[in-house]
Amino acid sequence: MRLMTPWCSFLVFFFLLPVRDIASGAVHNITLSEPLFQNLTLVSSGQIFELGFFTPNGSENQYVGIWYKNLTPSRIVWVANRDSPLASADRSAKLTIGSDGNLKLVDGQQNIVWSTNVSVQSNYTVAMLSDGGNFVVKDKNSTEVWASFDDPTDTILPNMKIGLNTRTRERQVLLSWKNDNDPSSGNFTTGITSETPPQLFTWNGWTSYWRSGPWDKSTFIGIPEMDSSYHSGYALQQDPQQGTTYFSCDSDNNSFLAYASIPPEGILALMIWDYGSNSWLKSRAAPSNGCEVYGTCGPFGVCNSINSPICRCVKGFMPRSKEEWNRGCIREAELNCQKNTSRTPSTQVKKDVFVHMNQMKVPNSAEYLSDIGDVGGCQSQCMNNCSCLAYSYVSTIGCLVWAKDLIDFQEFSTAGQDVYIRVADDNTGEMSPGNPWKDQLKQDDTSEFTLFSFSSLLLATNNFDATNKLGQGGFGPVYKGMLNDGKEIAVKRLSSSSGQGMEEFKNEIVLISKLQHRNLVRLMGFCIEGEEKILVYEYLSNKSLDSFLFDSKRKAKLNWDTRFRIIQGIASGLLYLHRDSYLRVIHRDLKASNILLDEKMNPKISDFGLARIFSVPNFLGDSNLNTWSKFRRQQWIWKT
Ligand SMILES: *[C@@H]1O[C@H](CO)[C@@H](O)[C@H](O)[C@H]1NC(C)=O
Ligand SMILES: *[C@@H]1O[C@H](CO)[C@@H](O)[C@H](O)[C@H]1NC(C)=O
Ligand SMILES: *[C@@H]1O[C@H](CO)[C@@H](O)[C@H](O)[C@H]1NC(C)=O
Ligand SMILES: *[C@@H]1O[C@H](CO)[C@@H](O)[C@H](O)[C@H]1NC(C)=O
Ligand SMILES: *[C@@H]1O[C@H](CO)[C@@H](O)[C@H](O)[C@H]1NC(C)=O
Ligand SMILES: *[C@@H]1O[C@H](CO)[C@@H](O)[C@H](O)[C@H]1NC(C)=O
Ligand SMILES: *[C@@H]1O[C@H](CO)[C@@H](O)[C@H](O)[C@H]1NC(C)=O
Ligand SMILES: *[C@@H]1O[C@H](CO)[C@@H](O)[C@H](O)[C@H]1NC(C)=O
Ligand SMILES: *[C@@H]1O[C@H](CO)[C@@H](O)[C@H](O)[C@H]1NC(C)=O
Ligand SMILES: *[C@@H]1O[C@H](CO)[C@@H](O)[C@H](O)[C@H]1NC(C)=O
Ligand SMILES: *[C@@H]1O[C@H](CO)[C@@H](O)[C@H](O)[C@H]1NC(C)=O
Repeated sequence: MRLMTPWCSFLVFFFLLPVRDIASGAVHNITLSEPLFQNLTLVSSGQIFELGFFTPNGSENQYVGIWYKNLTPSRIVWVANRDSPLASADRSAKLTIGSDGNLKLVDGQQNIVWSTNVSVQSNYTVAMLSDGGNFVVKDKNSTEVWASFDDPTDTILPNMKIGLNTRTRERQVLLSWKNDNDPSSGNFTTGITSETPPQLFTWNGWTSYWRSGPWDKSTFIGIPEMDSSYHSGYALQQDPQQGTTYFSCDSDNNSFLAYASIPPEGILALMIWDYGSNSWLKSRAAPSNGCEVYGTCGPFGVCNSINSPICRCVKGFMPRSKEEWNRGCIREAELNCQKNTSRTPSTQVKKDVFVHMNQMKVPNSAEYLSDIGDVGGCQSQCMNNCSCLAYSYVSTIGCLVWAKDLIDFQEFSTAGQDVYIRVADDNTGEMSPGNPWKDQLKQDDTSEFTLFSFSSLLLATNNFDATNKLGQGGFGPVYKGMLNDGKEIAVKRLSSSSGQGMEEFKNEIVLISKLQHRNLVRLMGFCIEGEEKILVYEYLSNKSLDSFLFDSKRKAKLNWDTRFRIIQGIASGLLYLHRDSYLRVIHRDLKASNILLDEKMNPKISDFGLARIFSVPNFLGDSNLNTWSKFRRQQWIWKT
């Protein structure tokens, strides 16, 4: 056991701390006469932060960065030369004050790799690291001429600010590392917008990825956990005259260790050091579910993470494409205010109405109307302007209106705002031109039958992981899955093509979904995207009958009573399919593996109706004839 100690400490040192040169000394400042060599680190006076040279694990590059001095695991919070690395083999690089008073990173060949590059009056400057993690260059008069807090990497520390100045075009954002071992500029940027009120935003390249919703003077209203009781120290200053907007999190307690950062994968995280467990705890992450990803449900789509599927349309809208929700929804009826009324007598002009939705994350691209003091004023302002598509009166902000498509619209289970969306008054009986597919869905209670997105099924089945596979049916493998709300499902990924057109295929599924009997497995919905055709069924916990019949141990659990009930149930289900249902479905592939058992051992026939969906020649192939004989054999085994 004693041998373990050095090995463990080696591990801790090597894997958990930033891999850096073994510095033999610590200094508290860098001056013209005393550069920082690789064998030294610069330490803040209270020993909280440390600056020095480091080489990421497995990298050939060397950087200058700042990390927490005494924490394991530590974390690099700032990198000077992220996009202009030194070679890790360069042993004589140094960080020094140049003759112009600027701080410079100089490599072994005396090339300037990185510089603070500000105008300074004299060369008598000194660089120091504060206990808050700010690396500053001060002039002779102790005036700060440069600060690392004005040049963030991927991390925001307490009292650091991100923001922008629209006049000077200066902007402080967080920009992710390329990957965990490469600090060069990655894909994700987090910053503050200059609109009124501002939002915190994460972009993936040029694409929006996450937004906080507008700032209401104490919280971002699109983050429901951040309700009014939330005391955060977050501060946001906007000065329209100066063109500046700055966001920071203020703290005067250097023992409270916290940071927010945008990691290479783009999930903004707030981390707090827990002195009890001596580890970083993630206190918040965004986006934290599919609905929080910007625009998941497209224009006029509404996302609710506890629904399945998570997307639906605002009332008065219908999906542009059920396969691709991110294309959003379109109006069922044109707005009356947009119609050409020159030929209609004014007495017959129809009105628009507002659909009310509550507990909402307000959509993106709001316009703030500053001089409106109540919800009534906000409504009439919107009603009287045909360009206004929606409004929301937020007591802590005021009147917000939307003239663009409503995007990134989300429904919360707590908090959130009331939003009113303009639609044509549907009492007029005007509907969109008939769409049989949609009408068919409408006839049923559509909430019972859903169209799943392929991505939601990928998520539910852990990318169709082999460990989720329940079995292999005649038409493709079946996987167990779990929806966002915890509901278990069985997902059948059809392997062969149906030989039918897409519309016919959909219609067929809708018909089959109407076959309902207590001894038939319930079809919950389906997914058709690209080549994928997937059926989603209720999940039955006791698997299939063959898993009992042909297992020497489980077999014993089937006493005669149970067997008899199973036989009766199958017969009853078959009778319904073959005789009583209006579709008259002949199963043609009945076998023990197609009889599923619920938690009370009630039998449910599965794979019914697929005979209708798949063309007949395919279905009468040899393998199915074999199934018939197998079925007889299984019946026989079952009887004995
Ligand atoms: C560092 O690299 C080694 C060797 O490539 C690897 O085994 C180890 O997991 C890496 N550690 C970290 C923290 O990435
Ligand atoms: C730099 O640090 C040294 C010793 O650590 C101290 O003597 C000196 O006064 C410091 N210089 C400045 C400018 O703070
Ligand atoms: C650190 O390195 C510099 C230059 O490489 C050298 O002059 C100095 O003596 C070293 N100091 C220590 C404490 O090793
Ligand atoms: C620093 O500035 C002083 C006065 O401007 C000058 O005499 C001196 O040479 C400079 N030192 C360096 C290293 O450039
Ligand atoms: C320093 O800044 C000037 C303008 O402010 C710019 O033109 C120059 O390229 C910068 N130099 C370095 C080394 O970044
Ligand atoms: C430093 O302060 C003195 C007097 O307070 C002033 O004359 C001088 O211009 C200042 N120097 C710089 C570089 O700010
Ligand atoms: C500073 O933060 C630490 C760690 O969270 C806490 O224990 C301490 O009470 C705080 N001190 C003050 C004065 O707020
Ligand atoms: C960054 O974007 C590129 C190009 O889209 C992609 O190949 C890469 O995987 C992305 N990196 C991360 C960490 O998402
Ligand atoms: C409205 O209808 C009138 C009469 O048919 C036509 O002249 C006019 O161009 C139409 N206006 C628009 C904007 O379509
Ligand atoms: C109507 O709303 C649009 C978009 O908000 C705005 O640009 C326009 O000025 C408004 N028109 C009137 C007359 O208020
Ligand atoms: C059937 O499933 C239920 C619930 O999953 C379980 O409690 C029961 O033991 C199972 N029955 C048999 C015979 O395995």
